[in-house]
Amino acid sequence: MNSIVRHMPDATALQPDFRSAMRQLVGGVSVITVGRGDEITGMTVSSLSSLAVDPPSIIVSLNRTASSWPILQRERVFGANLLAADQIGVAERFAGKGGLRGAERFVGAEWRKQVTGVPLLVGALATLDCEVEEILERHSHAIVIGKVVHVAVAPQSAALAYWHGSYVAVDRDDDLGRLAALSVPDPRLTP
Ligand SMILES: Cc1cc2nc3c(=O)[nH]c(=O)nc-3n(C[C@H](O)[C@H](O)[C@H](O)COP(=O)(O)O)c2cc1C
Repeated sequence: MNSIVRHMPDATALQPDFRSAMRQLVGGVSVITVGRGDEITGMTVSSLSSLAVDPPSIIVSLNRTASSWPILQRERVFGANLLAADQIGVAERFAGKGGLRGAERFVGAEWRKQVTGVPLLVGALATLDCEVEEILERHSHAIVIGKVVHVAVAPQSAALAYWHGSYVAVDRDDDLGRLAALSVPDPRLTP
């Protein structure tokens, strides 16, 4: 009698290729801020994205080992600060460079509060003050859905992105002009 042998794909074996694949993905760099008063911290993320416009909502994926995670879980509010190209230093501080922790990460930049009371970065491309709508804990991470309760947008032209393990600047005036020349015209916009 013939037996059927099923070779289950080994997820662990895929991990190196998966890491390589994800390095190809350009991510906007943001800082998530959590806490109020003296107990504040935050972390650099590239996993932030828009969920919906109605209601204004975002999604971000956080490693549950991060120091921000227990505070976010408890306080149920957070700030999303979309970094400008000249804010690499802020990105590095909130990625924990130099062993900085908690309130130390906020030193050297200006912060303000809006609705929820979490610190929001002055000079960021945009800041979103959020209440946690839902959390989905999956694998090592938590997927957090944030309901946006306040938005501020600043006029900077250059955004900070992360690609292939390095920070890159995306400049509206320089880079987008070149990209427009490469792009395929949208038939909906041509008569
Ligand atoms: C460009 C960049 C993007 C990152 N994106 C994420 C992310 O989306 N989610 C995450 O959990 N960690 C991300 N990290 C790692 C966290 O910033 C880092 O682990 C965290 O700040 C350190 O955690 P700690 O607060 O426990 O020291 C990213 C780091 C960098 C440099």
